[in-house]
Amino acid sequence: MRTQVGIVGAGPAGLMLSHLLHLSGVESVVIENKSRKYVEERVRAGVLEQGTVDLMIETGVGTRLKQLGLVHHGVELRFDGRGHRIDFADLTGGKGITIYAQHEVVRDLTDARLADGGQVIFEVDDVSIHDFDGTRLRITYRKDGAPHQIECDFIAGCDGFHGICRPTIPAGVLTAFERVYPFAWLGILAEVAPSSDELIYASHERGFALHSMRSQQLTRLYIQCAPDEQIEAWPDARIWDEMHRRFATHDEWKLHEGPVVQKGITEMRSFVVEPMQYGNLFLAGDAAHIVPPTGAKGLNLAIADVRVLARALAEFYRRGSRDALNRYSDVCLRRVWKVQRFSWWMTSMLHRFEDDNAFDRRRQLAELDYVTNSRAGSQSLAENYVGLPMEL
Ligand code: FAD
Ligand code: PHB
Repeated sequence: MRTQVGIVGAGPAGLMLSHLLHLSGVESVVIENKSRKYVEERVRAGVLEQGTVDLMIETGVGTRLKQLGLVHHGVELRFDGRGHRIDFADLTGGKGITIYAQHEVVRDLTDARLADGGQVIFEVDDVSIHDFDGTRLRITYRKDGAPHQIECDFIAGCDGFHGICRPTIPAGVLTAFERVYPFAWLGILAEVAPSSDELIYASHERGFALHSMRSQQLTRLYIQCAPDEQIEAWPDARIWDEMHRRFATHDEWKLHEGPVVQKGITEMRSFVVEPMQYGNLFLAGDAAHIVPPTGAKGLNLAIADVRVLARALAEFYRRGSRDALNRYSDVCLRRVWKVQRFSWWMTSMLHRFEDDNAFDRRRQLAELDYVTNSRAGSQSLAENYVGLPMEL
């Protein structure tokens, strides 16, 4: 098979890239090692920045998002048993975020690619990429046991943090920057109406907790736990008990309980490789960088990368110019590092660290007090949370 851009990974990055390329008249093929059902049901992120929402609507994949997405114009920071609202609309000139599950984004993009005659090949094995620093680029894989090959001009490594593209780049080319946090998140999905209209980020002596949602009937909740925590050690009753303690307020607020339909543990890491390109191979999304989920940025950052990449590839095919391709990594990394900073800052402000002492806790509470009571402090959080302006 021959195509212009071979894309490894059908997550948000790979699928959005394929969609944007199609709109610019550039051909691509996406290969994915999991099944379509698996990627369309995998519970992950849920917060879309305004820019991500606008892009989906402008490019014709926003119909379900407009019907089902929950638009929020603020979040609550809860500490010392009191809630403090950060009013995004007021602080950012009317911007907000939309709650819409990542697997719904994946579903909308897959449907659009297939409806437009695009190729998304699921359930492939033994994927490897070849000669990406030369001109005879190839992706090889197996499907139903039979070997296949895609010849292409460019390869986009959109295969997530555990993918094969980044590790295939020769040693010495990339520099990795990393921080692993001494805690994880235990997340549940519960069949119950959300207990609040907006997200609640709670900082508590016992650790961080987050109240989010997926719909009027589905609540998404997380608590900070030990990094090596076993999910079996957390029967539902223990999870609810811990949630109640961490969200407790001095007023009448109540956390609604309901049947737990999904639970899992997510490790927390900050990670970046530089540069995000080598020869004719371009890394995008989690393949190039990971953020801890406290800033709700992973998915949005993946989409921001592929906007830059799609534009650069379109310019190459339209005008034969490699200028934008050469600048891909530099343009992306400016945003990546600002988002890394924000995600690290939110994480350090809200979680308990194992070596915290009384000084650290007082300092954290003072920071929360400042952020929620100073317009400058709130505005800095708000403009990052709704999404920094896109620089293409
Ligand atoms: P991915 O979504 O990881 O997509 C990569 C795709 O490549 C996958 O479908 C994978 O199956 C496929 N793939 C991998 N290897 C190969 C291969 N060799 N060949 C072919 N295909 C391959 N972010 C938040 O903001 N909030 C959250 O609550 C949150 N929760 C998360 C929970 C988990 C368990 C994980 C892993 C991530 C979470 N994230 C969260 C981060 C967010 O989901 C990611 O930033 C986002 O998925 C990035 O999109 P992506 O397309 O770059 O990568
Ligand atoms: C989610 O709804 O899954 C979610 C929301 C906000 C975050 C992380 C995850 O910061």
